[in-house]
This record gives sequence, C-alpha cells and structure tokens, in this order.
Amino acid sequence: MRRKFIAGNWKMNGLKAQLGEVESIAGAASDNSGVDVALCVPFTLIAPAVAAAGSMPVGAQDVHAAQSGAHTGCISAAMLTETGAGLVIVGHSERRADQCESSGDAWAKALAARGAGLHVILCCGETEEERDAGQTEAVVAEQIAAIPGDAHGDWLTIAYEPRWAIGTGKTPTEDEIAATHGAIRAKLGELAGKEAADTIRILYGGSMNPANAAAILALSDVDGGLIGGASLTAEKFVPIIEAAA
Ligand code: G3P
Repeated sequence: MRRKFIAGNWKMNGLKAQLGEVESIAGAASDNSGVDVALCVPFTLIAPAVAAAGSMPVGAQDVHAAQSGAHTGCISAAMLTETGAGLVIVGHSERRADQCESSGDAWAKALAARGAGLHVILCCGETEEERDAGQTEAVVAEQIAAIPGDAHGDWLTIAYEPRWAIGTGKTPTEDEIAATHGAIRAKLGELAGKEAADTIRILYGGSMNPANAAAILALSDVDGGLIGGASLTAEKFVPIIEAAA
C-alpha cells in the first residue's frame, strides 16, 4: 500500500516573511503522520525553511544535471543537498515551456538528483491542444519514457499535471484523472517492471484545493497531490493534507 504524499510547490513565491506558514504546515504534517508532506520553495528560502520545518522535508523546484562547471545561475544537486533540501521537482511544465526543457533534460536532472541522494518528483502533463486531440496518454508516455530500468519508489515520484489545469481552477473529470493515472501506472510497468511501477507514487497536480482534494485523492492510482496556489498558506494547504490522511 503506497502512503499518500502531498507536496507543495511554491513556485516563485516566498520570502522569509512566509516562514510562519512553513512552520504551520510542518505542524500539520506532524499531526498527520500517516501522510508524507513536503514543501518545495525557491532556492533562496531552502535553508531558512529547513530550519523552520522541523522533520518535514523541504525541496527545490529545479536542479542542473551537471555536478559543477560553467552553468551561470544554475544549482547542482550537491548544492541542494548541502542546503538541507531532501527533494527536488524536475520537468515541471512551466520549465518545459519557459526553458524549453525536453523529457531527456528532465531525466538527466532526475538522475543527477538521485545521485546526490535527493528524492525526485518528475512532472508530466499535456497541453489543452494535446488533450483535445486525444493525445494525453501518448504525451505523458513520452515524458516518462526515459525512466531507468532500476527505478523504484524510494527515490522517484511522478506528478501528472495537465498543463491546462495548472493555476486555472479547472481540472479533468474524476474519470479522466483515474484513466490517465492508470495509463501512467501501466506505462511505468512496461518501462521499469511491475514491482517498480507498484512502488512509484503518482501525484495529481493542477488546481487541487480544499474543496476537490478528497474526491481526487480517493481515485485509483492517485497517490497524492502536487499543489501550487493552495500550498502557499497553511489555511488552504492543511485541509488538503487532512483530506489525504
Ligand atoms: O506543481 C504544482 C502546480 O503546477 C499546480 O499549480 O496552482 O494549479 O495547484 P496549482
């Protein structure tokens, strides 16, 4: 049985003034010990958030695939580990779009993060045009296809985030979410074997909020959520954590 996993992605939000929210969220994580909870914050906030979060893991939202070198402005996996980060998001659709990141780029980042002992949340998801063209399952299959054959749950989590649902208040129907998560699980089984596929958690992301969280989290093959806007405050994030408990 896979433990539910609720991760927050603060994106480009969060100054030291928001460390009180980190403390409150960490308190809720401690009160709901049956759920794994983590918070991914901007690079600049990782160290202070680690200090404020107690035992709750704090993560980053990107990492460079190289260990060091002429990569101006980038951060290596070892640098993240040194700041106290325990996990990192890679391949988020906003980076795939803004930074022209490919699926190969995302997997190279994932393997670099794995090498530094970081847990990886690898994102996948289709655009509205791809959804309307019936290409959702083909798109996410390509995005996860480079998974290493020895993948297994203790270092890797997949997050399915339909790009058209991110920040829009829109979500797929429950049947659509369940179908796509099932397709991702089946594809993971083809790529990495059934044992690995059964241990890898698949999170849903894209306008999850306190009102819809319980229904989405109850769906088959939905092992948790990757939450953007609703993770910025304890007031909205804690009910989602509690819905997973
Ligand atoms: O990574 C999670 C994020 O993309 C979802 O954003 O605001 O729709 O929950 P939001």
